[in-house]
Amino acid sequence: MKAMTLKENGGIENFSLSEIEKPEANAGEVLVKVKAISINPVDAGVRRDNATLQRMLRPKEGEDTFILGWDISGTVEETGSGVKEFKKGDDVFGMVNFPGNGRAYAEYVAAPANQLALKPKNVPHEEAAAATLAALTAWQGLVTKAKIKKGDKVLVHAAGGGVGHYAVQIAKSFGAYVVGTGSSSKRDFVVSLGADEFIDYASEKCENKVKDADIVFDSIADGEHLLRSIDAAKKGGSVVSIKSNFGDEHLKEAKTRGILTFRILVQSNGEDMKQISNLMAEGKLHSHVSAKYRFEDLPKAHRQIETGKTIGKIVVMV
Ligand SMILES: NC(=O)c1ccc[n+]([C@@H]2O[C@H](COP(=O)([O-])OP(=O)(O)OC[C@H]3O[C@@H](n4cnc5c(N)ncnc54)[C@H](OP(=O)(O)O)[C@@H]3O)[C@@H](O)[C@H]2O)c1
Repeated sequence: MKAMTLKENGGIENFSLSEIEKPEANAGEVLVKVKAISINPVDAGVRRDNATLQRMLRPKEGEDTFILGWDISGTVEETGSGVKEFKKGDDVFGMVNFPGNGRAYAEYVAAPANQLALKPKNVPHEEAAAATLAALTAWQGLVTKAKIKKGDKVLVHAAGGGVGHYAVQIAKSFGAYVVGTGSSSKRDFVVSLGADEFIDYASEKCENKVKDADIVFDSIADGEHLLRSIDAAKKGGSVVSIKSNFGDEHLKEAKTRGILTFRILVQSNGEDMKQISNLMAEGKLHSHVSAKYRFEDLPKAHRQIETGKTIGKIVVMV
């Protein structure tokens, strides 16, 4: 089968389009014929960093290259023993083995069945593939950790990016009042997702406009920004950080002001995928796919995600 292998950490020139052996579905796994893959900033981060590459993606015995990637949508070709929930021919999507070895940059992926959900019939594979790592992060931050509820005021930073555009829609689906931030070019897009207000981070400070958020969802790599997010939350509210760690200074400030802090790393989870699938089937959650790449152009998708300016999601068609 075709796979995009990485010989070592570094630039996109280390990728090669290769022929490797097709995997088999072990017990509890399904073999998925992949139709679309989504690309996230973490894909590029792991590609660059040797320590993370070695820790997360141990090559199989006899292999001397790595296979990156976690986010897939495709069709079940074979089921391993003990798999009851899916059968050959089902269209499924999910984030495979994150944080670990997903091996998603390939024509076939052996995936634990309990990490997948059925793809809604009204959603094409590229939009399903997109709604995996990024959508799960938004779900696990807002729902699992911050326990979002109707009427909450939710401040979503980077609302026009991959995670942010799902966070806005998930928050709206719970009946929240949503304020999104982004650069001015993203205003119309973020409002079209359902955000009630938009803050252009280049010209306005979010904490001057929002001081009573029940939940602040922060994806910015900057400790100073996290302090500002704590400033924007109300007493009893929550700040969810998916990028920066809370240091002593943040924790002290949050404690003084009675604010809960959650630093999360997304985890593969089939039950959460089912919730995402349901929202998509009901038309309450959409993927905005701003670019589609051919499989052989996957390295170009890495270049795009590294700009940090992507609108919604980008996917690779297999
Ligand atoms: N912890 C986890 O499990 C987890 C999971 C997923 C992602 N992440 C991390 O979360 C971050 C976002 O991921 P993503 O997939 O959404 O990335 P993305 O698709 O590249 O989107 C990033 C967005 O950030 C916006 N942005 C940049 N600086 C900003 C600022 N100061 N204020 C507001 N918006 C700003 C950019 O839009 P503009 O053009 O408007 O600047 C862009 O739309 C990445 O660092 C990623 O590694 C963590």
